[in-house]
Amino acid sequence: MKVEIRYFSRGGNTKKLADAISSEIGIEAKTVKEKLTEDVDILFLGSSVYAYGVDDAVKEFIRGIDVKVGKVVSFSTAALIKSTYKQVNKLLKEKNITMSEKEFACKGSFGPMHKGKPDENDVKAVKEFARQIISESK
Ligand SMILES: Cc1cc2nc3c(=O)[nH]c(=O)nc-3n(C[C@H](O)[C@H](O)[C@H](O)COP(=O)(O)O)c2cc1C
Repeated sequence: MKVEIRYFSRGGNTKKLADAISSEIGIEAKTVKEKLTEDVDILFLGSSVYAYGVDDAVKEFIRGIDVKVGKVVSFSTAALIKSTYKQVNKLLKEKNITMSEKEFACKGSFGPMHKGKPDENDVKAVKEFARQIISESK
């Protein structure tokens, strides 16, 4: 089973989750600047929201996918909204790419809000999440 991790992170919060997934499943976490070069079964895709939208880099990454993707599993951080699920799903639908109903989302620090988030518990939880996704896909 081929698994890849891509993420976009301006401030490091979403990167924290990407790195946690990476260390758990032993696959390098790369930024969305790195295109997928071969078909994948599972793509963990990390994003966040800035003034109500995902960054253009995430949009460009998704629009530029030209390999087969079994399913995308989203993980995200945000200060106010629950997650980026809907926005990412909309972009994926345009490409006919399936998105898992399962996602990982947690708060991300923003100025004085949610200091320290994602924290140790979030890191633990996202590792458990990734482990489960992999084991149920085997
Ligand atoms: C310029 C800017 C705009 C933001 N706008 C929103 C927003 O509209 N809704 C929200 O929930 N969080 C918003 N946030 C908070 C980020 O989503 C949050 O800090 C997130 O964890 C950032 O992830 P990153 O560190 O991986 O870039 C904003 C943050 C920044 C810096």
